[in-house]
Amino acid sequence: MRFETRAIHAGQDPDPSTGSVIVPIYATTTYAQDAPGKHAGYEYSRTDNPTRTALQDALASLEGVADGSGGGSVATASGMAAAALMGYLLEAGDHVLLPNDAYGGTFRFFARVLGEQGFEWSVADPTDVDAVRAAIRSNTRLVWLETPTNPLLRVADMAALAAIAHDAEALLCVDNTFATPYLQRPLDHGADVVLHSTTKYLGGHSDVVGGALVTRDAALLEQLRFLQNAAGPVPGPFDAFLVLRGLKTLSLRMDRHCENAMRIAEFLRDDERTVEVAYPGLADHPDHEVAHRQMDGFGGIVSFRPEGGVAAAHRFTERTELFFLAESLGGVESLIEVPAAMTHASVVGTDLEVPDDLVRLSVGIEHVDDLIEDLDRALG
Ligand SMILES: Cc1ncc(COP(=O)(O)O)c(C=O)c1O
Repeated sequence: MRFETRAIHAGQDPDPSTGSVIVPIYATTTYAQDAPGKHAGYEYSRTDNPTRTALQDALASLEGVADGSGGGSVATASGMAAAALMGYLLEAGDHVLLPNDAYGGTFRFFARVLGEQGFEWSVADPTDVDAVRAAIRSNTRLVWLETPTNPLLRVADMAALAAIAHDAEALLCVDNTFATPYLQRPLDHGADVVLHSTTKYLGGHSDVVGGALVTRDAALLEQLRFLQNAAGPVPGPFDAFLVLRGLKTLSLRMDRHCENAMRIAEFLRDDERTVEVAYPGLADHPDHEVAHRQMDGFGGIVSFRPEGGVAAAHRFTERTELFFLAESLGGVESLIEVPAAMTHASVVGTDLEVPDDLVRLSVGIEHVDDLIEDLDRALG
């Protein structure tokens, strides 16, 4: 089955007890047993819940995990909860290599939480393969990557980084939140684990917070399932249902996000009121070639710097009407933000600091002419 079909059918057979064509929201904490330990596969909803099982099966299928292969996914209460489960795989003294551009909360978790508990971390530019190789230490156990990166939209060569990580017997975890499995499947490029904030494009409607980890490695999946139950950061069944509902239209939404973002990137690039535009779909983007090679589309996020510095950037974001000034991304509605003052405030003063006049757009699926008119008006 092709991606669009799996998004609607994988893990989502009609409910066996009623024929419901939509996976029900199993709002139950526990499950009646026939005899102690004899049950239909469910005991307690932190451990497993049928709505969550359907979501996990669907996500695994979309990331290219073959049915019956032993791989799969674990759904979590947020993208950060998924990162935290990865953290539990590490032992004190292990080293994590972080990218020099990433979601601020991810950096905060590794540097401020694990870092203060005795884990080592350092930072390298993931688009510079030699720099990544040089940054590997004898105790490196995890190489972390976002591609495209948040918010500078750099694109790293996943296969090259996977080879470096595996030479060092480290895992490569790729945060695929920006691209989604519709545009990019990191497991096909050698990643060991894919992380999602399902809060973003997978949910797609800005109404649910969630996350997931996906792997083809059966032993790693078993560890992650153990941690999911042992640590307990699970999504509730209603949240799992909302993400499942979002997945059904993912391909349609991503096509429109990509089309609109490309048009907006071109508009901003050609406008003299901007000084720098980052979008991997633009031919002059420094990573356009690698993006073209490993992605099926360039995504819905565009970052740029307006003429006039930080004051102009703040003024601009206050003036848009269709682009709501808000954190987050990946919903059907367009959002605008200043990362340095909002989503990336926790990396100010670190290697991950971003320019304070950088504006990030999450381009929605509204009519692109309305969006361009809104930006044009706000640029003044
Ligand atoms: C790329 C990326 N990864 C992870 C996260 C964290 O996800 P959540 O907010 O669902 O915990 C975010 C949140 O903005 C993100 O942008």
